[in-house]
Amino acid sequence: MNIAILGSGRGSNAEAILEAQAADRLGDGRVVSIVSDQSEAGILKLGPRFGVPADYIDPGPFKTKLDGEGLRVYVEHIKKFNADLIVLAGFMRIVKPAFIEAFGGKVINLHPSLLPSFKGLNSIRRAFDYGVKYTGCTVHWVVPEIDAGPILDQAIVRIEANDTCATLEEKVHAAEHRLLPSVIAHLSLSYAN
Ligand code: GAR
Repeated sequence: MNIAILGSGRGSNAEAILEAQAADRLGDGRVVSIVSDQSEAGILKLGPRFGVPADYIDPGPFKTKLDGEGLRVYVEHIKKFNADLIVLAGFMRIVKPAFIEAFGGKVINLHPSLLPSFKGLNSIRRAFDYGVKYTGCTVHWVVPEIDAGPILDQAIVRIEANDTCATLEEKVHAAEHRLLPSVIAHLSLSYAN
């Protein structure tokens, strides 16, 4: 199962996926492409390190969505790699229905909360400020509505009395780094059958 990873930031989750692949923990999954909408994003540095093509692709004029010509160029680029699964790992743009349809709905997203709680931005901070005792992370299918598709799996993080927002962020990221590769490995097995 060929995987394309899209991200906008440091790429710690893409790194976790690539490390899982190197350790034979990604099932039949194989990362074939990394794409970022930020030319300086850390995620692009993973390409040379893991021997995977990693490209900045201009997302076009919109600030918060992938649409129009930008969307067309992204689809064209990713299709060259015959990707079977698109993984949004910290890709901070809304993808429009045409993108999801271009890949037959095989687009998943990682979100740093227990959906449907704390959809949208700054989810870890908002969960911390709200005072919930449990938060975590979710991997779900991407649908046109934001952070709303069918849930593939979740991991729970307990917020302890001595946690700060910073320590909570570390815990949620650590949970993400375990959850996302394991979901991909499971999907790759059902893909193969
Ligand atoms: C992750 O925490 C991911 O859940 C979040 O961005 C971070 C990316 O980190 N995604 C969202 O907030 C999507 N709405 P990374 O670049 O180190 O993988």
